[in-house]
Amino acid sequence: MSPSTEKLDNCYCVQLRYLFLILCLILTSYFYIYIKRKQFKNITTKIPTVVGLPFIGIAYKLIPIKRFLYRISSYFEEFNTSTYCAWLGTYPVIVTIDPDIIKTVTSSPEFLNKAEVLYNPIDKAIPKGIITSEVHTWKHNRKLINTYFNNKLLMSLIPLFNRGANTSVKRLSKLSNGGEHKLFDLIKRGTLEIAIEATMGIDMSEGACENYELIDSFTVLMERIAKDAACSTLGLGFLARTPGYYKARRFLRNYMNKSFETVATAIYSGLVMLSMHSDVQEKLFQEIHSIWPEKDIHVTYEHLKDVPYLDMVMSETLRLMPSIPIVGRQAIHQTKLTSELILPPKIQVIVPIFSLHRAETWWGPKAHLFNPENFLPETIAKRNPYVYMPFSKGARNCIGWRYAEIVVRILLIVLVRNFKFTTSFKYQDLHFVDHVSLWYDVEPNLSIELRKI
Ligand code: HEM
Repeated sequence: MSPSTEKLDNCYCVQLRYLFLILCLILTSYFYIYIKRKQFKNITTKIPTVVGLPFIGIAYKLIPIKRFLYRISSYFEEFNTSTYCAWLGTYPVIVTIDPDIIKTVTSSPEFLNKAEVLYNPIDKAIPKGIITSEVHTWKHNRKLINTYFNNKLLMSLIPLFNRGANTSVKRLSKLSNGGEHKLFDLIKRGTLEIAIEATMGIDMSEGACENYELIDSFTVLMERIAKDAACSTLGLGFLARTPGYYKARRFLRNYMNKSFETVATAIYSGLVMLSMHSDVQEKLFQEIHSIWPEKDIHVTYEHLKDVPYLDMVMSETLRLMPSIPIVGRQAIHQTKLTSELILPPKIQVIVPIFSLHRAETWWGPKAHLFNPENFLPETIAKRNPYVYMPFSKGARNCIGWRYAEIVVRILLIVLVRNFKFTTSFKYQDLHFVDHVSLWYDVEPNLSIELRKI
């Protein structure tokens, strides 16, 4: 054999080997997918299923992120169903807006773990935080935190909420000389300032709570800040800035930002809705004005029982703009979800609150429109309570919901009493994106006018 023929043969051999390897890889992959799909056949044959591409499932259909919430909703309409299954990567997830299934998932101890697919990124930002922690750690932390979020504490914070609201009035007054302005950052600053003061004011000295991250982080941070300040005067500040200092600072920043962004979003969304619905704003102003004819007001807890229209406006705002648009849980053991569906351990059930709150099946043909009358007491009484869950439901619901409800109401009362809000942005042009908390694709600017009476 000539050297050139030998070289050609070698080359051919190498190519064959590569081809064989690729073939093996493809076959193994298909076998893996086949086994996976077979493994979950008892779910995927019982409810409508979106398969998507091998290995990534429907992940590619969920980008761009701008379309995410709308794409998730679209499958309910496409399949004319309230529960479907979607392959995400190599695992199926159940996506549901069925109130009976939501009731099972939020009240069963089998679903106390959060869905990994949604919470892994948060867990990376706030490792082992209460929002993502597994059931055994969570139970302990939740019990501890619950003792701090008691009625007495909330009542003691009301003067602080009033002070915060009045500070916001001063800031907004400066923008009341015409034109439309970006307000979200200003509102967020206000809610964050209130939150920091509220959290720092909590008596944290009681009880042994080595796992209570907020206390831990505050303690570490305060110690380090004190050391930092002391060392800095000697030009040695870097000695205090240990990894613990940065970790605590990161945790606090994330915790504060995420929890209180939800509050700021709720207030801002309330103002956006009022700006776009002048009749609703006027009716709300009359309710507020009848209780506080003077502008300089102090809202007490008792007052909050006398503003039923404000309750309706806020509930409707959180229906259309739930600050957390999507939540999910994960089965701990094999669990019965419905009479037909038995879920193997670790299967994730996603509840897109955004879709649930806008589903025509539960809210009628005008579900997408802003209408506070949806929360008239007699209308609420007729509705399944599991079609509305801005603070989630069950044992793992929002721990700060009462705090949020009070602070949001006090700020809105004080702002609506002092200003009239308008905008040229149209309701039908609003578009929402999921950034863990809900956000506006384009933030509407609002114009502020000082009330004369
Ligand atoms: C309008 C404001 C708020 C809304 C709409 C809201 C909504 C929610 C929702 C839907 C959940 C469930 C999340 C899930 O299952 O993944 C949740 C959980 C939670 N929220 Fe809120 N939230 C608000 C304000 C707050 C505030 C002010 C705090 C803190 C003071 C807070 C602290 C928490 C915590 C710690 C959890 C996790 C609870 C657990 O897993 O046991 N939230 N929130």
